[in-house]
Amino acid sequence: MEKAAAPTENSTFKNIVSHAKEYGFVFPSSEIYDGLAAVYDYGQNGVELKNNLKNVWWKAMTQLHENVVGIDAAIFMHPTTWKASGHVDGFSDPMIDNKDSKKRYRADVLIEDCAANYEAKGEPEKAKTLVQQMARFLEAEDLKSVQELIISENIVCPVSGTANWTEVRQFNLMFSTQVGSVAEDATAIYLRPETAQGIFVNFLNVQKSGRMKIPFGIAQIGKAFRNEIVARQFTFRMREFEQMEMQFFIRPGDEKQWYEAWKQIRMKWHLAIGLPAEKLKFHDHEKLAHYANAAVDIEYQFPFGFKEIEGIHSRTDFDLSSHEKFSKKKQQYFDTELNKNYVPYVVETSVGADRVFLATLCNAYTEEVTGEGEDKKERVFLKFHPALAPVKVAILPITKKDGLPELARQIFEDLRYDMNVVYEERDSIGKRYTRQDLIGTPFCIAVDHDSLQDASVTIRHRDTTVQERVKIADLKNILLEAVSIKRIFEKL
Ligand code: GAP
Repeated sequence: MEKAAAPTENSTFKNIVSHAKEYGFVFPSSEIYDGLAAVYDYGQNGVELKNNLKNVWWKAMTQLHENVVGIDAAIFMHPTTWKASGHVDGFSDPMIDNKDSKKRYRADVLIEDCAANYEAKGEPEKAKTLVQQMARFLEAEDLKSVQELIISENIVCPVSGTANWTEVRQFNLMFSTQVGSVAEDATAIYLRPETAQGIFVNFLNVQKSGRMKIPFGIAQIGKAFRNEIVARQFTFRMREFEQMEMQFFIRPGDEKQWYEAWKQIRMKWHLAIGLPAEKLKFHDHEKLAHYANAAVDIEYQFPFGFKEIEGIHSRTDFDLSSHEKFSKKKQQYFDTELNKNYVPYVVETSVGADRVFLATLCNAYTEEVTGEGEDKKERVFLKFHPALAPVKVAILPITKKDGLPELARQIFEDLRYDMNVVYEERDSIGKRYTRQDLIGTPFCIAVDHDSLQDASVTIRHRDTTVQERVKIADLKNILLEAVSIKRIFEKL
């Protein structure tokens, strides 16, 4: 099978973004009002894919690990939580404004883009030195030198084309709002910028009510909010997004071993959901967050380059100790084997549901050309893992008469309680196959006149377009086996 001539990375990504909109995966938020920057809505197919990904993560974490349980904490938390976690004082990005265009940028992103240009021009040493210089200045909170770096590199605003920059300032990424109905009584609270703190503040609740023994983990999926200065690359960087996080509570001193273990477990998960090994890599952090003593990203090669989809952090006892200090309530565990109390250490795995969604969509998007001359055919299809596909099976009677719709409906009724199935009788069978390919349905079931005689149907496989005749009596088992989440779990 011949592959289509490689389009440029940018055009591929543009095609993926428009495909996502046209086929009901992702829409710009409140589009009729021209949208809201960096906020997106999931459509009828997107929500199915995202739910399937979240389900595979949830079950892999909780059901497949005897010592990991889940919670669902509220988005709003007591404001002191964010003082204790360090987010009020330290969760910021360095920003710079261009005085001519009045546009605001992240200073570190401007410098990273400049370094990427050096890379592209075959000057990797220059790129490396520039990034290292920036990391040193940011580490030392020397924002004046960050601004000087931007000016000395002659970085200009893409809108005004000038280097007329303001000074660099830190910009806190948390959104705040008010609880309470009367303005004077209202208390400022934050929309959580990470789900992790909901886990930390519930550490003892879960440990005691579940009689959990260290080492154990608490997992959570939920919304997080960040006022990102640079919002771009579609759902990669959003202001409202979803995280799938797990805090693994361990004995102090065991963090290196668990950090390495969770790195491998999580990489396996990304491979198991179908992301190819050559498009995944680890990237060690040069600059550590305020809470971590080791951190690594799992990066996926998007059409716009290798970018973080998951972070694995050794968070020491930073969070629990800090909550102990601020709340004045002990956050300790009595270890019966060691016969002593301690504040547990934590290894965190934190993956963005929207980023895994985008990686899965980019990986699935396939433009294929087969045959030559008059036989040349082009098709676009989404090759999702069957367990992740939004729609698993389409039931298609080849005509609307002769009793075929009735038989097809019976098959549909028999399957719909076990998987997401659609029934379609409009248009030619070819057009219907194409429609299902475009949303990534792995199996189409054609019901034809022979089906009435031999009680068999044809399964058409999305990726190969190969057709296979099977008995209707065997169909359900064949499909259940093929779309089972077990196919993913076997690889973990
Ligand atoms: N609790 C640790 C934490 O929040 P992080 O590296 O800031 O760490 C973890 O975020 C993951 O959340 C990232 O790897 C990414 O997948 C996702 N994420 C972070 N910011 C995001 C954004 N603005 N839009 C979409 N996903 C985001």
